[in-house]
Amino acid sequence: MLEEWYRRHLGPDIHDISSSGVHPYTFAEIRERCGITAGELDAVVMDDSVSQGGAGIRQAIADRYAGGDADRVLVTHGSSEAIALTLGTLLGTGDRVVVQEGIYHSLGHYPRAAGCELAELPAAAVREGGIDEDVLEGLVTPGTTAVIVNFPHNPSGATLSPQGLKALTERTAAAGATLVWDAATAEIAHRWDVLPDPAATPGDTISYGTFSKTFGLPGLRVGWAIAPPELIEAVFPLRDRTTLFLSPLVELIAERAMRHADALIGTRAAEARRNLAYLTEWMAGHRDLVRWTPPEGGVCALPVFRELEETAAGPAAVERFCLELLSRHRTLLVPGTAFGAPHGARLGFGGPEEGFRAGLAGLSEFLRTRAGGTR
Ligand SMILES: Cc1ncc(COP(=O)(O)O)c(C=O)c1O
Repeated sequence: MLEEWYRRHLGPDIHDISSSGVHPYTFAEIRERCGITAGELDAVVMDDSVSQGGAGIRQAIADRYAGGDADRVLVTHGSSEAIALTLGTLLGTGDRVVVQEGIYHSLGHYPRAAGCELAELPAAAVREGGIDEDVLEGLVTPGTTAVIVNFPHNPSGATLSPQGLKALTERTAAAGATLVWDAATAEIAHRWDVLPDPAATPGDTISYGTFSKTFGLPGLRVGWAIAPPELIEAVFPLRDRTTLFLSPLVELIAERAMRHADALIGTRAAEARRNLAYLTEWMAGHRDLVRWTPPEGGVCALPVFRELEETAAGPAAVERFCLELLSRHRTLLVPGTAFGAPHGARLGFGGPEEGFRAGLAGLSEFLRTRAGGTR
């Protein structure tokens, strides 16, 4: 539903306050910040690259996230492809898999499509940076094949503290399961420090990363998995039948962006933090109409609209709500039904400040008009 919503409703001249990513960079900004010259672009030979990803981009990713070990890095067309290749290869019929409630759609799709036996990690079990110990012990049992989570969570913004991550990795290892960790927005943390990549030390962990979120490069379509080399080797037959490899031109840009990650992420993280401060005040001023749990990481949150909650409105209501908001105020949210939350919507605060504030002003007017001055 998420992608279908964007196919239908994302367009020019709207205030998009729905995204889980940051304000995208122009190519001129990328060239300037990463020092890519026209000569370097011209020198790229438009030849085949290699299945695992070219040596330069793999090493750049490994140096930042995998302790320098490029053998454990697979470079893909967005992390979407990394998820498809690795989960499509790892999981089989009848495997027991623990999946976090409200998880990003493709992370839930592949275990379902493979015919796995699914157990849900409830969102409510994640509190104060940790997963409730009893829930963890009851769910992650010996015989479990994989535990699939996304922290900071898209869309709630809930995340783990370093201790919470340690408890999860220990429990998963003790059960003999693979930890599957989607770190799409890991580099923007609000409550605790940025978490280390759990796949940075060799072990039975797969982590996913992407240029689409905190790097501000969703149009580059590059992501990666860090995974045991045997699993990377095992995905090649699937890759050989799908996308083969990336373009060397794209790999050059991605490599340079990775080597300049601090500059690219830093500017956008600062903007997102200013937006979050503004949003926090906005929420306080609208607490009669909306409630939320402030995000602990990433650039989105899942506010709940009191009117829909109090009337126990069905799923169609929040979709109508978002459509009316778009048509009256040119402001885009994603209905919570895309994430199993029928009374809320995904609100992203990673965008340009002016547009973000204009979108919130539209939402404010919309909410107050609906409440008819009664609140
Ligand atoms: C949590 C999460 N994982 C993975 C993806 C896939 O991103 P991409 O294929 O652009 O890297 C997204 C995109 O929204 C996401 O939110």
